[in-house]
Amino acid sequence: MRRLIRGGMLVDDAKIVRSDLLIEGECISQVAINIIPEPDMEVIDASGLYVMPGGIDVHTHFNIDVGLARSCDDFSSGTRAAACGGTTTIIDHMGFGPTGCSLHHQLKVYHEYAAQKAVIDYSFHGVIQHVDDAILDEMRAMVEEEGISSFKLYLTYQYKLDDPAVLRALRRLKEVGAMATVHPENDAAIALRRSEFLAQGKIAPLYHALSRPLECEAEAIARMINLAKLAGGSPLYIVHLSNGLGLDYVKLAKAAGQPVWVETCPQYLLLDEQCYQRDDALKFILSPPLRPKSEQDKLWVGITEGSLDVVATDHCTFPYAQRQILGKEDFSRCPNGLPGVENRMSLLFSEGVMSGRISASRFVELTSTKPAKLFGLWPRKGSLLPGADADLVLFDPRQNDVIRHQNLHDNADYSPYEGFVCRGKPVLTLSRGDIIARDGHFTGQAARGKFIHRQPFQHQEKEAQYGQS
Ligand code: URP
Ligand code: ZN
Ligand code: ZN
Ligand code: ZN
Repeated sequence: MRRLIRGGMLVDDAKIVRSDLLIEGECISQVAINIIPEPDMEVIDASGLYVMPGGIDVHTHFNIDVGLARSCDDFSSGTRAAACGGTTTIIDHMGFGPTGCSLHHQLKVYHEYAAQKAVIDYSFHGVIQHVDDAILDEMRAMVEEEGISSFKLYLTYQYKLDDPAVLRALRRLKEVGAMATVHPENDAAIALRRSEFLAQGKIAPLYHALSRPLECEAEAIARMINLAKLAGGSPLYIVHLSNGLGLDYVKLAKAAGQPVWVETCPQYLLLDEQCYQRDDALKFILSPPLRPKSEQDKLWVGITEGSLDVVATDHCTFPYAQRQILGKEDFSRCPNGLPGVENRMSLLFSEGVMSGRISASRFVELTSTKPAKLFGLWPRKGSLLPGADADLVLFDPRQNDVIRHQNLHDNADYSPYEGFVCRGKPVLTLSRGDIIARDGHFTGQAARGKFIHRQPFQHQEKEAQYGQS
């Protein structure tokens, strides 16, 4: 099967050119100014459209059990929603398993969750919920045999790691060619503040945010950066940054040449702490919490100047109906996380590209190419090079779209972005050459997604640093 995408504006992370693109089977076979259609080619008219590498969302939590509840999007509904929004690859975070379980145990669980369900290609981040010799020994096989080249460390929640455990893990991850990713929040400070609020009867959602002020996050970011340096310069990726002080610490580390990268999410760029004054404030419980509007401006500077590397979603769905039941008496009983996997591309295209803050190339870098390079997927994913998988999204800048949850494909019962007007719309999504979504609706086959064996981090390091500001 050959498909010819004609007359579009091809966008990669470095340039925009009007060009044609030919797909043969699952891959891009040619990019050229004027490819002559042949009888066996299906021609897609892309005039007036941006043709870009499909989105790569490296932060989702499908099917995760967070103790208080299990997120209601699995690899079927979650990846279907992703596809409708222009995302063609996800890297999901393995959740915690039984106490003491091995890395391979969780990998097996996650393969079972995703196989026969995912409709786009996928991988997983490993999770390090304790550190001992056996876990450290397993890491090399996870990278080299299983293709899992990144691991998550939590500094809060049930299986938070202490500093010696973090140091041991970081040293070993560097040795075996894996990226450490971290949820940075100071658990002890949060626990103290939370218990004080609850003792005073301060149980409203607002106190969720007040119990985790931005200093808790920024302190943990600074600590992780220094521990990564002490561990010999381990590559470190900071997830879901919500504030400017944390970004300042990252910038200091980057300026000193330390291999540190940082992600933010649409909710921190577009929503703020005013949401905790609303009657439906429980819809916005997540960690780190939403911040004052002034922090959004600082994150947008990071987006425009280049110090922020990736925009991902942290998609983790708990319906509002469930939040109301669990969080009614006390904010700390409400499971944490927001849905958004279907809206990331549209929101950033609208608020970034259409608003004039960033170029379409920077959009591609943030949503696709940089995550592909950092997490061992590039150039198979995140590029328009001949030989790459034909994972594409076509955006129409002339169409507006209002976000309504009733039109989305996840299993939530609300969207945190309800009523947002997005300028520009993903009108076609292709995954390995298949058309899997058109005009916001899924058109692909069930369970067609494949597990992607990712490359070790070292092989990507030069490329990943290339293009870093
Ligand atoms: O509140 C959040 N972000 N929930 C999902 C899990 C995590 O911390 O990333
Ligand atoms: Zn987190
Ligand atoms: Zn997360
Ligand atoms: Zn639909």
